[in-house]
Amino acid sequence: MSQFYKCFGIFLILGIPSTWAVYDHYRLPNSVEPLHYNLRILTYLNSTDQMFEGSVKIDILARESTKNITLHAAYLKIHEDRTSVSSEAEKNSVTGIEINELYNFYTLHLSRELKKGEIYQLEMHFEASLNDSLSGYYKSNYTDAVTKEVHHLAVTQFSPTFARQAFPCFDEPSWKSTFNVSLGYDKKYTGLSGTPIIGCQKHKTLENYIWCDHQLLLRTSTYLVAYAVHDLRNSESKTSNQVTFRNWMQPKLLDQEMISMEIAPKLLAFYENLFQMDFPLVKIDQLTVPTHRFTAMENWGLVTYNEEKLPQNKGVYLQQQKDDTSFTVAHEYAHQWFGNLVTMKWWNDLWLKEGPSTYFGYLALDALQPELTRGERFISRDLANFFAKDSNGTVPAISKDVKDPAEILGQFTDYVYQKGSLTIRMLHKVLGEEAFFQGIRSFLGKYQLGNVAQRDLWNSLQEAALQKEVIPFDFNLNRAMDSWTLQGGYPLVTLIRDYETGRVNLKQTRFFKGQDIITDSSCWWVPLSFVRQNLPDFDQTIPKFWLECPLATKDLLLPGVPSPNEWIILNPQVSTIFRVNYDKKNWRLITKSLLNDSNFGGIHKLNRAQLLDDLLALAAVQIHKYDMAFDLLRYLEKEADFLPWQRAVNILNSLRPLLNEENSKQFKIYMQQLILPLYNRFPKLAERTGSNTPVKDIPFAHFAYSQACRYHVADCTDQAKILTISHRNGENDELPSNFQQLAYCSFLEEGGDAEFQEIFAQFQNSTNGAQQRILASALGCCRNFKNFEQFLNFTINSDEKILSDCSMLAVKTALSRDHLVAPTGKYILNNAKTLGEKFKKKELTGLLVSLAGNLQSPEELEQLKEQLKDLNEFEEGLQKAHDLVKINQKWQKDCSSDFIEALGKLI
Ligand SMILES: *[C@@H]1O[C@H](CO)[C@@H](O)[C@H](O)[C@H]1NC(C)=O
Ligand SMILES: *[C@@H]1O[C@H](CO)[C@@H](O)[C@H](O)[C@H]1NC(C)=O
Ligand SMILES: *[C@@H]1O[C@H](CO)[C@@H](O)[C@H](O)[C@H]1NC(C)=O
Ligand SMILES: *[C@@H]1O[C@H](CO)[C@@H](O)[C@H](O)[C@H]1NC(C)=O
Ligand SMILES: *[C@@H]1O[C@H](CO)[C@@H](O)[C@H](O)[C@H]1NC(C)=O
Ligand SMILES: *[C@@H]1O[C@H](CO)[C@@H](O)[C@H](O)[C@H]1NC(C)=O
Ligand SMILES: *[C@@H]1O[C@H](CO)[C@@H](O)[C@H](O)[C@H]1NC(C)=O
Ligand SMILES: *[C@@H]1O[C@H](CO)[C@@H](O)[C@H](O)[C@H]1NC(C)=O
Ligand SMILES: [Zn+2]
Repeated sequence: MSQFYKCFGIFLILGIPSTWAVYDHYRLPNSVEPLHYNLRILTYLNSTDQMFEGSVKIDILARESTKNITLHAAYLKIHEDRTSVSSEAEKNSVTGIEINELYNFYTLHLSRELKKGEIYQLEMHFEASLNDSLSGYYKSNYTDAVTKEVHHLAVTQFSPTFARQAFPCFDEPSWKSTFNVSLGYDKKYTGLSGTPIIGCQKHKTLENYIWCDHQLLLRTSTYLVAYAVHDLRNSESKTSNQVTFRNWMQPKLLDQEMISMEIAPKLLAFYENLFQMDFPLVKIDQLTVPTHRFTAMENWGLVTYNEEKLPQNKGVYLQQQKDDTSFTVAHEYAHQWFGNLVTMKWWNDLWLKEGPSTYFGYLALDALQPELTRGERFISRDLANFFAKDSNGTVPAISKDVKDPAEILGQFTDYVYQKGSLTIRMLHKVLGEEAFFQGIRSFLGKYQLGNVAQRDLWNSLQEAALQKEVIPFDFNLNRAMDSWTLQGGYPLVTLIRDYETGRVNLKQTRFFKGQDIITDSSCWWVPLSFVRQNLPDFDQTIPKFWLECPLATKDLLLPGVPSPNEWIILNPQVSTIFRVNYDKKNWRLITKSLLNDSNFGGIHKLNRAQLLDDLLALAAVQIHKYDMAFDLLRYLEKEADFLPWQRAVNILNSLRPLLNEENSKQFKIYMQQLILPLYNRFPKLAERTGSNTPVKDIPFAHFAYSQACRYHVADCTDQAKILTISHRNGENDELPSNFQQLAYCSFLEEGGDAEFQEIFAQFQNSTNGAQQRILASALGCCRNFKNFEQFLNFTINSDEKILSDCSMLAVKTALSRDHLVAPTGKYILNNAKTLGEKFKKKELTGLLVSLAGNLQSPEELEQLKEQLKDLNEFEEGLQKAHDLVKINQKWQKDCSSDFIEALGKLI
């Protein structure tokens, strides 16, 4: 075959000559290596037609002699007659092209062999329309608030596998290259790429168009390259540590407080100091894009944010939103080292960039503003999620094989981020400050601008740990850490003391919840640090021993033999992600100390939260009776820290829907009793103004009021009403945003039709998105379903995205309140088709799981399945709902009577 395929575009089915095997391994061949890209992209943003055309010249090194080149391309029209491969010495020609659609491979067959060791230049020309797929080079728009004119813009989202939709490239993270980017566009726009512009010239033929060349971008993976053509406005430029920051957004956002601008320079300085390595670029543009696939993206030199996810309504700032946004920014900047500078070889190890960026993001927040304790709260939340979710038999390992683009995208889950972060935290605590950071710094130094597998991280840390003598000389950190990243699940370590000899016996088994116990031989390398009551040093997290794997039990004589009447606690600060069960006597000693000792016997707050979590979990799998858990819960009366309260109450709340009506009443009385002392710790709700609540107190106060009002503790709902009404009458126009939702919620729950209509009218009248969200999620608290239905009818069918999003928020609230659960569930089923068209799969799955959490019987589940069976969008959600209902039913059958009996003794 030596003829050209004169086809236009890769959608055509090409005849595949039988002499060529189609390349079908999921990774690119190693025969050629890209060294450098010269990329030229001309962008048209005409009001009627938005498209781009471009060319790429890639310098490639032949690592072997070969007659073919395979790279990635997808959804591009490639002008095949203009494709060429040449070296200084010779010109080659393309004899044929093959496509592998699953992996987006584009293979060029050449007339002459490329010679090993020679460098060639591959040149390709292509074009595509800009569409709103939120991937590749895509378009977005905003409407000018004054002129109502629509402004188009174009921006890239290449991670993880979308660069191939913007230009043909070797689109795997391990093929790092340098990039020269030139952008052509109408000069009324601004063109941005990862590096500053060197200079611009007029376009030769197109009037008003210019071409601008950008400086060379350092060696990078394709998924981190970025560019944009837009007419957004720069709110502010700042130079700090020789790096210039600019912040681009649509004009109506210019007067908003921009967290990203405020903290980005500080974060960069923090990480430079923490990692002892300078940020390698001279500028960073931060671009707030009206539509975005993710929350943000850490592109080199051009960080993008999703406008929809930023708090951006003047006057209505929710602290939680601010905290989330601060975290997003902190996470993206940690990526500049973990991901951008040192990159995973392949997407199986995605966690190697997401885990550290999440964890160091938390550390950064706590370093910048320690009084807000945000990192600590996020870690506690991640621990709670992890222990709740990772206890089923089918959770995947965080490092797992992925091949095609859909599988790669499927790796980006909260689970990978959170467990990845907890794994890095474990290393930090277990190796200690010095060895950990020495290892991290040497890892970054050694592999900068390169690629790694998880083993490379283990090796750097092992070396530092040996030097600092925090692990035994023959310890194999690789093997130990693999046991955490290459399998799902986590262990339950059972610790039985021999009170006469002072010995302890330890054994591990995988912890499963709500499943018939499957034989399972998984095991982990578990670091063992003990704390004893007479020496409660919870900072000593470097282990003295390890529980080995596969050797699953261990008998130890603890150094400084604990006396029989003091407790011992394993795993200070919950450094490592495992549960602990003790013998009954030790549990009693712990409970006694928490109840009676000043300062809770010195037990760390994360351990206090975990002890509650563990005992409740052990009761739910019938290892202990609920008596023990309820006994421990009594200590909360004195608890002044948010974390243990939050953990315990959230777990108890999740059990509420599983109780029958009679038992629910008992449960409610118990919860009122439990929460009263918490409620009493805080000033009256009606006295809250925007200015008298320090920011650092907001999360805990908000939690306390909302739980108290939910269970009608003392005068909480009256207070909420007073607060709402005084706001309405303009006496207190400072109703603090952070408490609005819970105040309105009680106002609606206690009120009737008039109260509903009042808030609903406010909702319809509001033009402030944040305000609308607050009102919507409160409207789900009303009692009369007819009213709620009116709201749902109004919002669900709306074409305005903000309104349909509001319906989802309200439904979420309604599904957590007894009186609306049943009719709201019905409404969802009746409107499933509309919902399926309107919402993303992830949202639908969340919706079904909330719904399933409230189902009482297997018949209800069957009905749900029957009604949704033809709607594909719900498939994943139905599976999850099914799993959840099974776990819940098992609990109802095996545990609910024990639960109610234990609780009954206390009320
Ligand atoms: C609009 O875009 C097309 C490319 O699709 C281009 O050829 C044409 O010149 C543009 N028109 C204007 C008025 O910019
Ligand atoms: C490409 O060339 C290599 C030899 O370098 C050969 O092994 C391989 O089968 C060829 N691939 C295709 C798709 O023809
Ligand atoms: C937009 O592009 C994506 C691929 O990036 C493609 O799957 C989709 O069909 C396109 N949509 C439209 C409306 O052209
Ligand atoms: C603006 O973007 C939205 C969201 O992608 C899209 O639905 C809408 O059609 C766009 N408007 C115009 C005029 O292109
Ligand atoms: C990249 O661009 C710079 C400036 O335009 C130029 O000097 C350099 O030769 C280019 N690099 C390559 C490898 O083409
Ligand atoms: C609606 O908004 C306008 C302007 O903000 C205000 O004057 C009016 O009182 C509001 N109406 C209701 C029912 O809230
Ligand atoms: C909501 O819409 C449904 C279907 O259109 C209708 O049957 C129902 O009466 C409406 N409910 C209210 C309260 O308007
Ligand atoms: C177990 O975890 C997997 C992965 O997160 C999830 O898909 C599945 O629904 C879970 N099963 C149960 C019983 O929760
Ligand atoms: Zn990330």
